[in-house]
Amino acid sequence: MLEQPIELLHPKRLLSGAGQAAGIAAMIKKAGLGRPFVIADSFNTKRLDYLGLKQGTACHPVAPEPDIDGLNATLKAARDARPDVIIGFGGGSAMDVAKLVAVLVDNVLDFEDISGPARAPARKVMLLQIPTTAGTGSEAGTRALLTEARTLRKIATESPHMLADIVVLDPELTVSLPSAVTATTGIDALAHCVEAFTSRRAHPMIDAFALHGIRLIGRNLVRAVADGGDRDARAAMLLASYYGGICLGPVNTTAGHAVAYPLGTRHHLPHGLANALIFPHTLAANFAFCRDKTVQICQALGLSGQDEHRLRAEAMAWCEKLGMNMRLGAHGVPEDDLEHMAAEAHAIRRLLDFNPRDLSRNDILSMYRAAY
Ligand SMILES: NC(=O)c1ccc[n+]([C@@H]2O[C@H](COP(=O)([O-])OP(=O)(O)OC[C@H]3O[C@@H](n4cnc5c(N)ncnc54)[C@H](O)[C@@H]3O)[C@@H](O)[C@H]2O)c1
Ligand SMILES: [Fe+2]
Repeated sequence: MLEQPIELLHPKRLLSGAGQAAGIAAMIKKAGLGRPFVIADSFNTKRLDYLGLKQGTACHPVAPEPDIDGLNATLKAARDARPDVIIGFGGGSAMDVAKLVAVLVDNVLDFEDISGPARAPARKVMLLQIPTTAGTGSEAGTRALLTEARTLRKIATESPHMLADIVVLDPELTVSLPSAVTATTGIDALAHCVEAFTSRRAHPMIDAFALHGIRLIGRNLVRAVADGGDRDARAAMLLASYYGGICLGPVNTTAGHAVAYPLGTRHHLPHGLANALIFPHTLAANFAFCRDKTVQICQALGLSGQDEHRLRAEAMAWCEKLGMNMRLGAHGVPEDDLEHMAAEAHAIRRLLDFNPRDLSRNDILSMYRAAY
């Protein structure tokens, strides 16, 4: 297995630990840079002082689950500001937009010129990523996901030039994350690790990150949800999310994310919630097709993992203990759309082709029905 070729890229510099984000302004100054441009969600735009940045620092807000229009508005503001450093400050939404702006700000290219794999040009600005959710792991990787409003598809863009120079994992920044978002984004991180671990293209080098991430989440997600101020649990979740981000690079996700995507694109559920609702169903559906690895996952999460049926119930209960309502119907997904959703999910071959079990459209429909 280890002889399987693989390439792994890491950000140049990783700072982890409480209080690290407070040194950002000084770090930028030391690097001889003077024109930071912050890309943040509405919550984080209000706390640039956390980064030691002066009032009046150029900053542009992004909406959750950003689309191409949102990117274009931020890009225009960034081009006007002529920055020398771009700072993504928020969850996956802010960090994904920051990656795209960083490679577009100094040229006349549009998103359409760089979307897809390996088309983005080298960037001139420095890129700093500061996650404030512990979920997507976007800070660790080269990929950005934008919604195309016309088709409701998520478009993935990837380039080594979109990888951060500096990543800061500071648990002080996630203390404010509400427990519901802590739970759903935490399960998103778990899904990244679990799906990569059980993928047909799983690789032993990535398995190590995946399994460590799963164990960290098994020990710390309940704690972070129960007490948002638990810095130790918050730091562990940020690290697990970062490991999940590493998994997304060379291996990536499988059926869980493919089946979750229509919940976001067709019914506007946030990425974390959509993945959390589908997580138990993928884990159970794949059980018989990657038994050894599923047993290791179960051990890390404290589940008995004896058969598909019991595993589904146990994993649902595990998620419900985090305060989630695990019924699709409770989140505004119309029952008469399940067939359309199954067709749409089944077409996401870039992920489904690597699921340990071949899932037909009907299998996916059964997963939605079980989740409903
Ligand atoms: N690049 C990748 O590899 C990758 C991987 C997975 C998901 N994604 C993308 O990431 C996006 C989702 O990111 P997300 O799940 O991190 O959510 P998000 O960035 O959309 O943030 C969710 C909400 O939490 C709020 N928030 C963020 N940090 C907070 C804090 N510390 N305290 C209080 N509120 C806070 C935000 O304002 C927002 O309302 C989606 O667009 C998804 O497609 C990207
Ligand atoms: Fe995800």
